[in-house]
Amino acid sequence: MSLRKIFYSLPVSWRYTARRLYYLPVDLFAKRDALTPPKGMIFTGSGDFRKQGREMTELFKRLGGLQPRHRVLDIGSGIGRIAAGLTEYLDAKGSYEGFDVMERGVLWCQKNITKRFPNFNFLYTPLKNDLYRNDGAAAENFRFPYADDEFDFVILTSVFTHMMPEEVKHYLSEIERVMRSGGICFATFFILDETSERGMKEVKGFDFPYDYGHYRLMDDKVKAANIAFKKEYLQEELIAANNLKLKNLHLGWWSGRGRDKCESFQDIAIIKKL
Ligand SMILES: C[S@@+](CC[C@H](N)C(=O)[O-])C[C@H]1O[C@@H](n2cnc3c(N)ncnc32)[C@H](O)[C@@H]1O
Repeated sequence: MSLRKIFYSLPVSWRYTARRLYYLPVDLFAKRDALTPPKGMIFTGSGDFRKQGREMTELFKRLGGLQPRHRVLDIGSGIGRIAAGLTEYLDAKGSYEGFDVMERGVLWCQKNITKRFPNFNFLYTPLKNDLYRNDGAAAENFRFPYADDEFDFVILTSVFTHMMPEEVKHYLSEIERVMRSGGICFATFFILDETSERGMKEVKGFDFPYDYGHYRLMDDKVKAANIAFKKEYLQEELIAANNLKLKNLHLGWWSGRGRDKCESFQDIAIIKKL
């Protein structure tokens, strides 16, 4: 059994305790800047937290056309990896709203980011997701607490990779509602096309063995562990069906594509509201 499988087999609350304990020695002694959480609290992935946030900001600018004055919505804001990067780019005219289903991440961001950057706000939205929590309301009925046409730029990094098809479909309809005409949604996915379906068989841990036709799961018990969508389904049923346009796709190296030819690990979709 892989380490990842063992981790997923633990009850949700145990996963956090396991992480806290594992990183305790580092967290007690290592130095961090004010926008970096203790390692044991980072439930959103591994690697250099601040460096990744800065690299993502560069991608938002270069691939999505993010401007310092933009009003930004970060869906699944986690524990502030993306927000921390954006604090170094958005100016006083710009602003940021993030929401997430994990209260501990939202509280950390409010305490450490909003306190220093009052134009950055974070909201706790208790919605169900079997990777992150056991309870909560259904995400596929959730109306985003924002006005129509409010945002210039919407971000979802490694969030649609943890949501089921009906949830993603509904979120894209809400994104269409809250984003202004001409606005850009920068969203990452695992996209299944001929090349990735062939390539992923060779990549340990990313072969998505559970096939549901238009999507595949990494784990059948923890469904939100990781999900990959068929390219046609994503384009037609999720994006075009919500009156959005897939402007560009930048395929990532998760499925064995050459790293030197890719922008990132996950696939990046640049989606425009017409
Ligand atoms: C892999 S983490 C990525 C976090 C952050 N976007 C980043 O890149 O650092 C996925 C995040 O999505 C959040 N999430 C899961 N389901 C969600 C939902 N229905 N609505 C909003 N956030 C959700 C999780 O709580 C978690 O913080």
